[in-house]
Amino acid sequence: ADLIQISEESRSAAAQKLKIGIYFATWWALNVVFNIYNKKVLIAFPFPWLTSTLSLAAGSLMMLISWASRVAEPPKTDIDFWKALAPVALAHTIGHVAATVSMSKVAVSFTHIIKSGEPAFTVLVSRFLLGETFPLPVYLSLLPIIGGCALTAVTELNFNMTGFMGAMLSNLAFVFRNIFSKKGMKGKSVSGMNYYACLSLMSLLILTPFAIAMEGPQVWAAGWQNAVSQIGPNFVWWVIAQSVFYHLYNQVSYMSLDEISPLTFSVGNTMKRISVIVSSIIIFHTPVQPINALGAAIAIFGTFLYSQVTILTSKLGFGTFKPSQPSA
Ligand code: 3PG
Repeated sequence: ADLIQISEESRSAAAQKLKIGIYFATWWALNVVFNIYNKKVLIAFPFPWLTSTLSLAAGSLMMLISWASRVAEPPKTDIDFWKALAPVALAHTIGHVAATVSMSKVAVSFTHIIKSGEPAFTVLVSRFLLGETFPLPVYLSLLPIIGGCALTAVTELNFNMTGFMGAMLSNLAFVFRNIFSKKGMKGKSVSGMNYYACLSLMSLLILTPFAIAMEGPQVWAAGWQNAVSQIGPNFVWWVIAQSVFYHLYNQVSYMSLDEISPLTFSVGNTMKRISVIVSSIIIFHTPVQPINALGAAIAIFGTFLYSQVTILTSKLGFGTFKPSQPSA
């Protein structure tokens, strides 16, 4: 009987691993498609405030239809849920629009290399704003992350300050989003999928007035006509693709957050950037100098080091930070 139990346990552990593997592969693939179409749209139609609003609108619409048609069970929420969601939505909105503004100014690969520095922001925010302490090896593992990002930034051929600052602001905002959202998801009354849907809806409400103020219908109409005349009717499909894939990859990532620790999520997210960086360099023929690529490799290696050091030191019981606590 013991043997049967052990083999059942190992089978269910293998099934769980497979499930997480499928989540990760789907999340990364959807993200690559989003990034490609998002950039294609931004090249022809440089209005990042509108494209980021459309991404949230597409997701909100898809989820409202799914709830109304009972394809997905609508979440049971109360006022406290929405109150707890508000800071998450604000941080999500800022992080999303800042990343999109960044990608409208610089190569997709550059934005994502800077965004691979997110674990460093997690540690610094946790240390200086939340007062959590980390063992020395964790701080040391940030050096390659920060050094690698800095090396890439100073050797970037098409450096642009707005592009750089947008990616940095996105990092900062997403650290807060992840800290608040893990708190908000506690109790598990709302699934990851529905949690992200509510997040989209609220972010859409926050972002819309700002998008109108920053860009507005007049410039959108003129820009749209220009883009359609350049690209042809396919342009509409590009916009739809970037919007729908934005929702899908985020939905899958929040579904996987139900199953994994925030640290695993954070590392998975940085590894996801490798596929985005490589595929966007190939598709958009982005010029890269070897020293620039070296910076990216060092930063990504730093994230791997950071994850290993965090797991090891928390197992040994150093510091107040636990990988099961909110992280990027
Ligand atoms: C966005 O538009 O929100 C960014 O591309 C998001 O980036 P991330 O989900 O890869 O952090």
